[in-house]
Amino acid sequence: APPLDVDLSRVVPGQQIVVVWRGKPVFVVRRTPEALQRMRGAALRQKLRDPDSHALQQPAYAANWHRSVAPEWGVMVGICTHLGCVPGYAPAPGGGAPDWPGGYACPCHGSRFDLAGRVFQGSPAPLNLPVPPYRMIASDRLRLG
Ligand code: FES
Repeated sequence: APPLDVDLSRVVPGQQIVVVWRGKPVFVVRRTPEALQRMRGAALRQKLRDPDSHALQQPAYAANWHRSVAPEWGVMVGICTHLGCVPGYAPAPGGGAPDWPGGYACPCHGSRFDLAGRVFQGSPAPLNLPVPPYRMIASDRLRLG
């Protein structure tokens, strides 16, 4: 399949778009400075099953605390690693769970992920959301594949 270019110029901070790449939904989220700060918090790390994503294949350039090329932009395959539902975007912190930093919630069996796609302990999903191969070809444009 040819690579897919994604125009990010109209995506505002806090917004997510979903593109289809090789038949799969790919989440592209523009993370706010506040969200990035929450992602880095030590308290959050303790709640994640694999905060450094040791268990899942991902491009070497995404093996970092933000799991992406540019910290502001999160890019993940939007398929729950439990049984394959598409998690919903739920970026607001709180929401009944005091320590919830915001992220993704799976409608099928309640798995939760942070805005880097890292799975929360206690979720049925075993692994973080995969990061697809991609690169930034401009500050507001990325290329998948
Ligand atoms: Fe997502 Fe089961 S498919 S929690």
